[in-house]
Formats: sequence, C-alpha cells, structure tokens
Amino acid sequence: GKGQYDHFMLKEIHTQPTSLRKTIEGRVDLDSGSTDLDIESDLSEVETVHLVGCGTSYHAALFAACLLNRCGLSARAIRASEYDLTAGTPSNNTLFVAVTQSGETADTLSALRRANDVGLDTLAVTNVVQSTVAREADEPLYIRAGPEIGVAATKTFSSQAAMLTLLSQHLARVNQYASRVNNIEALLSDLTDLPDAVEGVLQSSNATRLAEKYLDENAYFFIGRGLGCSVAKEGALKFKEITYEHAEGFASGELKHGPLALVTDRTPVFAVCADDSSKTVTNAKEAQTRGAPIIAVSTSDHSIVDTADDHLSIPDMHPVCSNLLANVQLQLLSYYCATELGRAIDKPRNLAKSVTVE
Ligand code: M6R
Repeated sequence: GKGQYDHFMLKEIHTQPTSLRKTIEGRVDLDSGSTDLDIESDLSEVETVHLVGCGTSYHAALFAACLLNRCGLSARAIRASEYDLTAGTPSNNTLFVAVTQSGETADTLSALRRANDVGLDTLAVTNVVQSTVAREADEPLYIRAGPEIGVAATKTFSSQAAMLTLLSQHLARVNQYASRVNNIEALLSDLTDLPDAVEGVLQSSNATRLAEKYLDENAYFFIGRGLGCSVAKEGALKFKEITYEHAEGFASGELKHGPLALVTDRTPVFAVCADDSSKTVTNAKEAQTRGAPIIAVSTSDHSIVDTADDHLSIPDMHPVCSNLLANVQLQLLSYYCATELGRAIDKPRNLAKSVTVE
C-alpha cells in the first residue's frame, strides 16, 4: 500500500534511499575501487555502445551515454521507436543495452530483437525479473528498485542511472578502448554515499514552497548541460506528465536558438547546474533579462545562486550524484505542483504504466 503517503509516486520518491542501496549492494568494491557486476559477456572489445529506451528510460540512456563518452567510449542513446531508422548498420563490436523499467515496452523489445537478429551482444537494464526484455537479451542487469506503481517513473530512473553508472565503470575497467583517466574510485565512493545524500535532499527540500509559488504559469523550461541535460529533459517529462502543464527540457545552450522566443515573465526556467555549468549560468541570465524567473538547482555556493530568483539546493558531490540529486528535487517539484492542481498523480490521463504497442 501507500502507507503514510497520499500517492504511490510520493512513496516511491521517498523510497529512493532504499532502492538505490539495493541497486548498488554487493556491486561496488571500495577497497579495490572497482565494480563487481557478475557480467558473463566479454565486453573487452566493445567499441560502441547503443543505449536504447523510451521516455524516462531514454533519459537514463542519455545520462549513461554522456558518462561513457567521458570514459573514452563511443556511446549513443537512441530512442527505441527510432532504432530501426537511426541505428544504421551497427558494427559487430557494438554493445546494445536495452533500458526499460518494465521490460515489456514494445518499442524497446522491437529494437532489442533487431539487435539480436544482427548478432550484437545485448544487455537488459530492467527492474522486472524475467520480463520479456530480460529473457530475450543475452544477460539481464536487474536494477532491484522494487515494484513501481506510479505511472510516473521516479525511483527506477535513479536506479537505472546508478546501474548504468556501474556498467560504465565496468566497461572502463575491462575495455581496451576505454580511457584510464576516469577517476573510478572517487565516483564509486560518492555513489555509495548517494542514498544518504538523497535522504538529506528529501528532508530539506523546499520544493513544496516553490510549487505553490510557480503554480500558474504559461510554460516551464528546464535546462542543463552534459549529465544535467538528461536531468533537464527528465524534469520536463515528469512535469508535463503529472501536472498537464507545458514543459520543455533541453541543453542550456539551445535556449538562444529558438525557445527564447517563448520566454516571458510567465515562463520559469529551472537551471540544473550540477556539472560544468558556467555556460548554463550565462544562458539562464539571457532568459532572466527577458523577465523569466530563474530557479537554480545547484549547490548553495554556486555562482548562479547570486542571480537566481529561487533555489533548490543539492550537496556538492561527483556530477553523477549531484545530477541525480537535482533530479530528486525536480521530482518533488512536479509532485507538489501536481497535487496543488489536484491531478490524478498515480494515473495521469491518457497514459499507461507500460506501453505494449509500437
Ligand atoms: O517500462 P519502460 O521503462 O520501458 O517505460 C518507458 C516509458 O514508457 C516510461 O519511462 C514513461 O515515459 C514514464 N511514464 C515516464 O514517467
């Protein structure tokens, strides 16, 4: 049941310290500074990684592609529904990673079958044991987040991102093409501290107050760079899904290439500054000049806080972790805006938890 919570979504947001612990449990060896993923496939010669999913799972794929690129591997996040038209003819050394909470999404399954048909190595990062995608991939990597009831994916995004982070570090260690400059130890150590940090954000968040303040606006923009770009996109998806308000998430730098035409004093801009973010500050200021309220999602000592109208605070950690903490703040924001608006939070209109048609 929902226990003390009004909705499954809020319960699942608050479950994240526990679900993240389960994702990571037994998979990190801090003494040796390495991952222990129990993967049988030999990934030492993988040259390219295709991360494929839909919706929130696609955003986790984007997050992971960014991270893998930083490890020197060539990685692409591809929307499952576009895989047939955009993947080209993958080389034999391509690893296909299906990212799907349910393991039953038709678009993702169809892309996986295509990858299996052309003989790629395939992995499934999924929550549901023995789901179709888990069975049809060479190997499943279970995120162990526990059942998710709310249509809006929350804890499973965090766990997918954490699992894919572990996979990226596994690849960085075993793969001959990966770069060795990646500081695995620091990342893994922060990742094991992430569940406690999520707890801290959940306890201290002022998202309720901001939700009340920014309730009646024309549109909501979410911007970020790198890992923060996937968080911005995910923040906007969650926001539109459960509030029914118009929201867009994109790379900070894109604001000036079109969306700025929509910016007014009725379009709050949420700026995720949890990574290399000085350009995001510049981009946010451009929107502010046109009257838009800026809400910084950053550490308290970040330079954007001086100019921002409001602030959602996150602790200073490795960008993988601070971006996931920024995402938790945005989950809370969406949830509280949707409750203020009286929306059907666990079952938003027109949507299903798992989409089994292409
Ligand atoms: O089960 P999956 O992860 O494959 O589902 C993919 C999307 O349908 C899903 O993430 C959807 O976008 C969520 N409702 C977003 O909250």
